[in-house]
Amino acid sequence: MNAGIIGIGRCLPDKILTNFELEQRLDTSDEWIRTMTGIEQRRIAEDEQNTSHMAREAARQAIADAGIDPAEIGLILVATVTPDQPFPSISCMIQQEIGAVNAAAMDISAACTGFMYGMATAKQFIESDVYKYVLVIGVEKLSKITDWEDRNTAVLFGDGAGAAILGKVSEGRGILSFELGADGSGGKHLYQEEFLVMNGREVFKFAVRQMGESAENVIKKAGLVKEEVDFLIPHQANIRIMEASRQRLELPVEKMSKTIHKYGNTSAASIPISLVEDVEEGRIKDGDVVVMVGFGGGLTWGALAMRWGK
Ligand code: UT7
Repeated sequence: MNAGIIGIGRCLPDKILTNFELEQRLDTSDEWIRTMTGIEQRRIAEDEQNTSHMAREAARQAIADAGIDPAEIGLILVATVTPDQPFPSISCMIQQEIGAVNAAAMDISAACTGFMYGMATAKQFIESDVYKYVLVIGVEKLSKITDWEDRNTAVLFGDGAGAAILGKVSEGRGILSFELGADGSGGKHLYQEEFLVMNGREVFKFAVRQMGESAENVIKKAGLVKEEVDFLIPHQANIRIMEASRQRLELPVEKMSKTIHKYGNTSAASIPISLVEDVEEGRIKDGDVVVMVGFGGGLTWGALAMRWGK
């Protein structure tokens, strides 16, 4: 039996920052941001709302949704590049706060691909019967490493968290295949010194190529063809990159997740936040084949194909 998602949750800060507000502070325009990225607004955490607070809220929702006892969780994986502090890890903080007293805990640093790395790792531990349940969280407070004077990056990012509980699901459902990858030679295109620094053009080219390729690879590895894919959740980084992967899979627009206009690029949180909305709003239904695909700093990439349902 495959590992699959049995509970989901998310947390988004209340504060909304619109393109119009950014226009007042920077040499940019709503028109440029919308056309070049698809972003209209993003959520920004308050100073006192830490990464761990958003992660905890998303985790609590996912546990309630799964209907499990936190003491049954064997492993907590938190994907983030914006932890509250270098250590103790966010995952250890969450372990204590949710009462997952029997869980091992570690953070994953794979930038925007972090949630994919977490899901693939969780799958291994569940299918080898090491752990019954694994909690995977993607969370970022990118606003704290954003240079608000740099129009190349300040318009792109947002804060938020998404979480999933993984466990064994019924025959034929769950994660059917995955792919993870990294190319350290591209590290220079997206990194943090004091603030986040990015060579947008290079990351864009890499993303368009890699997202399409990885999506096709996991479909093939799952023994499927692209006509059998019901829904695509691409990392919400740029609508033009997302559109390129949708077109490569020949899916109609309504079969691709889109939350970027509301939340911007929330890095490791973008895929699980989108998943929650797609499930809640009925775009993903029991038995659907869902492909998730992400890319990010490292450079890293990752994708998986799953059949939705417990
Ligand atoms: O999660 C992974 C994180 N990273 C990404 O996903 C980023 C991937 N890259 C991108 O999304 C795109 O590269 C951007 C949206 C960042 C930029 O789009 P682009 O098509 O690569 O444009 P560009 O960087 O080549 O810039 C085009 C023009 C430049 O002006 P000139 O040199 O043509 O006069 C920029 O200076 O747009 C200018 N520009 C802006 N103008 C208004 C750059 N940022 C802005 C801005 N407002 N915010």
